[in-house]
Amino acid sequence: MPVKKVAVIGAGISGLSAIKCCLEEGLEPTCFEGSNDIGGLWRYEEKSEVGRPSIYRSLTCNTSKEMTAFSDYPFPDHYPNYLHNSKIMEYLRMYIKHFELLKHIHFLSKVCSVRKRPDFSSSGQWDVVVDADGKQESYVFDGIMVCSGHYTYPYLPLKDFPGIKKFKGPYFHTWEYKNPEKFLGKRIVVIGIGNSGADVACELSHLAKQVFLSTRRGAWIWNRVWDNGYPIDTILFTRLYNNMNKWLTSSMINNWAENKLNSKFNHIDFGLQPQHR
Ligand SMILES: Cc1cc2nc3c(=O)[nH]c(=O)nc-3n(C[C@H](O)[C@H](O)[C@H](O)COP(=O)(O)OP(=O)(O)OC[C@H]3O[C@@H](n4cnc5c(N)ncnc54)[C@H](O)[C@@H]3O)c2cc1C
Ligand SMILES: NC(=O)c1ccc[n+]([C@@H]2O[C@H](COP(=O)([O-])OP(=O)(O)OC[C@H]3O[C@@H](n4cnc5c(N)ncnc54)[C@H](OP(=O)(O)O)[C@@H]3O)[C@@H](O)[C@H]2O)c1
Ligand SMILES: *[C@@H]1O[C@H](CO)[C@@H](O)[C@H](O)[C@H]1NC(C)=O
Repeated sequence: MPVKKVAVIGAGISGLSAIKCCLEEGLEPTCFEGSNDIGGLWRYEEKSEVGRPSIYRSLTCNTSKEMTAFSDYPFPDHYPNYLHNSKIMEYLRMYIKHFELLKHIHFLSKVCSVRKRPDFSSSGQWDVVVDADGKQESYVFDGIMVCSGHYTYPYLPLKDFPGIKKFKGPYFHTWEYKNPEKFLGKRIVVIGIGNSGADVACELSHLAKQVFLSTRRGAWIWNRVWDNGYPIDTILFTRLYNNMNKWLTSSMINNWAENKLNSKFNHIDFGLQPQHR
C-alpha cells in the first residue's frame, strides 16, 4: 500500500505532536503553519496579530512542568515548577530538533479550504488549498489533522455593557494586553475572574492607582500551589483521585473541595461564593 499522506494544520503544541505521531505510524505528514514560526499560542510577540492567538508577557503555565511535558520528552531538571511562556518555547524548539520535525513544516502557509474529493467515498481523500505567501497551492491528502487552536479570536460581549458607548477611556480584551507599564496610576476595572482576569488584575495592581476585579457569579479560587508546596496537579490529578471520583458521590467531593478552598480563602467573606458547587 502506498504511504498515506496527512496534512497537519498548524504548528502549535498540537500540530508538532501530530507530526511526530504521524512519523511514528509510518504516515507522511505535511504541516502547514500560517505564521513564520512554530509555537502557536506560546510564542510571545510584542504586538497582537489578527488571526493569531496572543498572550501577555508575564504569562506562566498553570500546569506543572511534570504534567505539561510530552510523556516521552521531559522538561530539563533545572526548569522551575511552573514555566514562563519563554521556557515553553525553548522546550518546543528542543522537541522539534530532537525528533527532527522542522523539515515537515511549511511556514507562511495558511490553509484556506479542506474539501472531500469527488471520489471521496472510494478514495477517502481530501483537496486542500493553501495560501503560501500570497500564492494558492493545491494538494491531495489521505488524512487531515486540524491543530489550528481554540484561542485565536477575542470575544468582547459589548452588548452586555450598554453604558460602554459613553465611557471615555480605552477598553479591550486581554488578547490585546501585553504588559502593565502604560497603566501606571490608572483606575482600572477587570471584568471576568478566569485565569486571564485574575492574572492581569494582580499584575496591574502593582502600579495602577486602583484595580477592581468584577465577576457576575463568583468563582471557586484554586491555587496552583497545593499542600506542602506541591503543584496542585501532581497531587490531585492522580489515579487514586481519579478512582475516588468514581466511588464518591459528587456531593461528597464538593463538600471536601469547598472546605479545602475555603480554608485558604473564605469565599463568602470576599463576596466570591458562587451558586454552583
Ligand atoms: C492565556 C492562555 C494560557 C494557557 N495556559 C495553559 C497552561 O498553562 N497549560 C496548558 O496545558 N494549556 C494552557 N492553555 C491552553 C493552550 O491552548 C494549549 O496549551 C496549547 O497552546 C494549544 O495548542 P494548539 O497547538 O492546539 O493551538 P495553538 O497554540 O493556538 O496553535 C495553533 C497554530 O495553528 C496555526 N493556524 C491556525 N489556523 C491555521 C490555518 N488555517 N492554516 C495554517 N495554520 C493555521 C496558528 O498560526 C498557530 O500557530 C492556555 C491557553 C491560553 C489562551
Ligand atoms: N496559564 C495560565 O495561568 C492562564 C492564564 C490565562 C488564561 N489561561 C487559559 O486560557 C483560557 C481562557 O481563559 P480566560 O480567563 O481568558 O477566559 P475564561 O476562563 O473563559 O473566563 C472569562 C471570564 O469572563 C467572564 N465573562 C464572560 N462573558 C461575560 C459577560 N458578558 N459579562 C460579564 N462577565 C463575563 C466569565 O464569567 P462567567 O464565569 O460568569 O461566565 C469569566 O469569569 C482558559 O483555558 C485558561 O485556563 C491560562
Ligand atoms: C488551569 O486552568 C484551566 C482553566 O481554568 C483549568 O481547566 C485547569 O484545571 C487548570 N490546571 C490546573 C493544574 O489547575
